[in-house]
Formats: sequence, structure tokens, C-alpha cells
Amino acid sequence: MVRIILIGYMGAGKTTVGKALAAELGVPFYDLDWYITTRYRRTIPEIFAQQGEEGFRELERKMLHEAAEFEDIVLSCGGGTPCFFDNMEYMNSLADTIYLKAEPEILAQHLKMGKGKRPLIEGKTPEELEAYIQESLQAREPFYSQAKYTLDISLLDTFSKIDECVKIIKDMLKV
Ligand code: S3P
Repeated sequence: MVRIILIGYMGAGKTTVGKALAAELGVPFYDLDWYITTRYRRTIPEIFAQQGEEGFRELERKMLHEAAEFEDIVLSCGGGTPCFFDNMEYMNSLADTIYLKAEPEILAQHLKMGKGKRPLIEGKTPEELEAYIQESLQAREPFYSQAKYTLDISLLDTFSKIDECVKIIKDMLKV
């Protein structure tokens, strides 16, 4: 049975690498944000606007407990998922957890490619974004570093770089 959970900051490449990894392993891929959106029929920005971050974190926890119970999956969670409640401990108890670790500059570059989906960084100038990433990454690192495995991520701007990550993960996990 393969149950892999990818964690890491927004823009680390969890969804990109997760999809490629799942395809390579021939198992379904789930993205926790997508799962929440589908189950509640609301976008992440809508949930934040209506229920605040606190409300979102409750839903996120509940949906993590649903999605992480599936067998033979690759699941990518949200950047904040490991940092609330006992989520990190829970994920470690039932899955191979992998921290996709990237420098703030790389995260900022990836985030510029996917604008408008992330309420926590909406409307920030490039300078504000970098400062926010630096600060919150530092606060989140103690949670992320509890993952069973860590993979250093550089700029994911070609398919071959994504494939390389998949290969490293397969070797690391021996799957
Ligand atoms: C968040 C990350 C997002 C999403 C929400 C909050 C965070 O997921 O869950 O906007 O707290 O870092 P991604 O990491 O997939 O962008």
C-alpha cells in the first residue's frame, strides 16, 4: 500500500510534483484544497471570506481526516495544514510524509505563476510577498521539519525537473 502525503509552503510544488508522482506510481492523486472545494462547493477564497481562517482550518482538518484515510494515494495538502491542531502527528501516523523544501525566492517565483487562488497572499506587492514568506516560513519550519522525508526543491520550470523530483522520491521511499 502506498500512502504519500506532500507538505510544504505555498508554491513549493506540492500539486505539481504530487500529480506527476501519482501518475508514475499509477495511484490516484488528491489535492486537499481541491477536495475541500469539491466537498463544500466553495472556493478557498470564499471559505476564508465567509468563515475566516479559523473556520477554514476546522474544515481543512476534517477533510484531511477523510482524504488521508484513502489507501494507495498521493495527497498534497495546503501550506498551512501541518501547522494546525495535531495534523502533522496525524499524517505521520498513517503516511509517508515528504516535506518539499524551497528557498523563499523559489516560492515567490512559483507563486507569481498561480495568482488569485491564495487569500493569505492576495494583493501583496513583490516586496511584501517576499517579507511575508520569510517570516511565515520560519514560523512553519518546525512543523514541516517533522515530515519523515525532506526533498530540496529548486525552480520547477521544466518537465524534466519535475520528473527528477519524482525519481528522487521513488528512490527515497523505495516504491
Ligand atoms: C494556505 C495554503 C493554500 C490553501 C490556503 C492556505 C496556507 O494551499 O490551503 O490558501 O496557509 O499556506 P497551497 O499550499 O496549496 O497553496
